[in-house]
Amino acid sequence: MKIVLLGPPGAGKGTQGVVLSKSYKVPHISTGDILRDAVKNGTPLGKKALVFMNKGELVPDEVVTGIVVERLNQKDAESGYILDGFPRTLRQAEDLDAALKKMSNGIDLVLSFEIPEAIAIERLTGRRVCKKCQANFHIKNIPPKKEGICDKCGAELFQRPDDSIETVKNRLKVYEGRTRPLIEYYTKKGILKKVSGVLEVNELFKELRQVFSDAKLI
Ligand code: AP5
Repeated sequence: MKIVLLGPPGAGKGTQGVVLSKSYKVPHISTGDILRDAVKNGTPLGKKALVFMNKGELVPDEVVTGIVVERLNQKDAESGYILDGFPRTLRQAEDLDAALKKMSNGIDLVLSFEIPEAIAIERLTGRRVCKKCQANFHIKNIPPKKEGICDKCGAELFQRPDDSIETVKNRLKVYEGRTRPLIEYYTKKGILKKVSGVLEVNELFKELRQVFSDAKLI
C-alpha cells in the first residue's frame, strides 16, 4: 500500500496517517514530523527549517525531497508507506515520480482530504500536542481528561508555534497557491480520490477501508 495524503493544514492527514499506519503495518512518513524532530534536536536541517516553519512557509523543495527519498529507500518502506504532507509542490511531485521510477516503485493512490477553511482554522488553533509523545488533542473536539496534560503519558501539552491564527492563515494561503495544483496533477494520472476530512476519525477510516478495497489494495 503506497499512499499519499494530500490536503490543507488541519484536514486530519496526520491523525488518519497514524490510524492507517497501525492498521496496515506500513510506516507513516510525515515531513512535518521529520522537520519538527530536526528542530527539536537542533540539527543543521532543523535550524534551516525553523525559519520557514515558524512563518508558515514551505521549506525549500530540494531539502525536503532529499529527506523523503532517503527515507523511502529504507527497508521498512519496501512494501508500502503512508506519505503525509509530501509532496506539497509540483516540483516535489515531479522529483518524487523520478525517484520512484528509479526504484521501480510507484504511488497507488493519492487521498485528497477536503475540508472548509473555517473548520481547518478552528481545528488548528485549538490543537494541543504532547511535549513528550507527540499525541494530538483538541481543546473542544478531542479534549484531554485533565486540561493541559496528555492522557497517554502524563506529560504537558503545548500549542505548536505555527498554530497561531496569523500563521495558520498563511499556511492555508500557501496550500492554495502551491499545493492545491497537485489535485489536478494526480487527477490526470488517474490516482486521485477525494475524501471528506470533516468526518469523525473512525467514520473516515471506514470510508478509506472501502476506498482501498475498491482499488484492490487490501
Ligand atoms: P505539517 O506538520 O505537515 O503541517 P500541515 O500540513 O500544515 O498539517 P497539520 O499537521 O497542521 O494538519 P493535518 O492535516 O495533519 O491535521 P491533524 O491530523 O494534525 O507541516 C508543518 C510545516 O512543515 C509546514 O508549514 C512547512 O513549513 C513544513 N513542511 C512539511 N512538509 C513540507 C514539504 N513537503 N515541503 C515543504 N515544507 C514542508 O489534525 C489537526 C487537528 O484537528 C488536531 O487537533 C486533531 O486532533 C484534529 N482532528 C483531526 N482529525 C479530526 C477529525 N476527523 N475530527 C475532528 N478533529 C480532528
